[in-house]
Amino acid sequence: EGEQLESEYGGPEMPLVCLTDFQAYAQEHLSKSTWDFIEGGSDECFTRDDNIAAFKRIRLRPRYLRDVREVDTRTTIQGEEITAPICIAPTGFHCLVWPDGEMSTARAAQAAGICYVISTYASCSLEDIVATAPRGLKWFQLYATSDRQLNKQLVQRAEALGFKALVITVDTPKMGNRRCDFRNQLDLQRNLLLKDLRSPKERHTTPYFQMSPIDSSFCWNDITWLQSLTRLPIILKGILTKEDAELAVKHNVHGVIVSNHGGRQLDDVPASIDALTEVVAAVKGKMEVYLDGGIRTGNDVLKALALGAKCVFLGRPILWGLAYKGEHGVEEVLNLIKNEFHTSMSLTGCRSVAEINQDLVQFSRL
Ligand code: FNR
Repeated sequence: EGEQLESEYGGPEMPLVCLTDFQAYAQEHLSKSTWDFIEGGSDECFTRDDNIAAFKRIRLRPRYLRDVREVDTRTTIQGEEITAPICIAPTGFHCLVWPDGEMSTARAAQAAGICYVISTYASCSLEDIVATAPRGLKWFQLYATSDRQLNKQLVQRAEALGFKALVITVDTPKMGNRRCDFRNQLDLQRNLLLKDLRSPKERHTTPYFQMSPIDSSFCWNDITWLQSLTRLPIILKGILTKEDAELAVKHNVHGVIVSNHGGRQLDDVPASIDALTEVVAAVKGKMEVYLDGGIRTGNDVLKALALGAKCVFLGRPILWGLAYKGEHGVEEVLNLIKNEFHTSMSLTGCRSVAEINQDLVQFSRL
């Protein structure tokens, strides 16, 4: 949709120095339909673009004359240590972008020492992903399908494979209207990546492909049902209001990800950074709150943490890295934004993530 990229990426002989350079590279090298699928938002893409713009309405309030020789970016999520509060959001179909898809992403995440949330719509099997990066911290993102037995199997399979949390995406009772995908007549189900979600052992010998449709009747009672199936902490992805945040606390889930699905589901909802404050206030410290959507720089990470997020997740930038050089491209993207975040901490006078608080930010009137 005629988007103007911020990057000054100048071609293969120039180093890629920021996340948007990887975006420009990906745009140049992916097919139009794959690029549109990744970049696309729903309807008018208002929320997709506002996710980025909203970060630019926030200014930093640095504190100087503090000893920042040693800056420690480490933190924990659900009790597990990560090297920086920057992890990988679930995105489907990595094989569209790089031949061995999620396996490359998983190795890069393991090398970076951060968490990778693997999508229900991964194009590699969970078993293969775990085998290629057995030590990496992994969470599993579930789109509940109307086949309850399949949901149960998927959850228990993820638990048996060593996934450390279950992320339930709540903003997708049906798919948003992605106009570009309609124009391109993109059909992930029929043409691209037909997928059988059952475990490799249980698959029929005659090919039985399915991409099970999402269960649009899934609701709060079903969260209780999921909790009865697993000991894994449950995290709800896509919470945008204080009302739902309070219900999440009531249902004893372990965390929420403030997210609007990268502006791909309901358009005209607030930018995720704008919804964060209300959710953090409603949760009152009773569970961890995370954020995704529009994180492109180390300063964005700092702003999200200042407003109460425990960590952030990257969606599209990981796919740009994957399109650049597979595993090594994703590693470059992660290292780049981790280094930027280290600089952001140093230049605002934060020696540890515990020192990042709301006094570091102010809202500008544009
Ligand atoms: C997504 N997202 C997503 N979310 C989810 O819960 N399950 C999924 O399978 C997918 N798939 C997916 C594919 C693609 C191509 C994109 C761009 C996004 C949403 C994703 O987890 C996340 O919420 C956003 O991508 C975050 O915004 P940014 O970082 O892309 O701005």
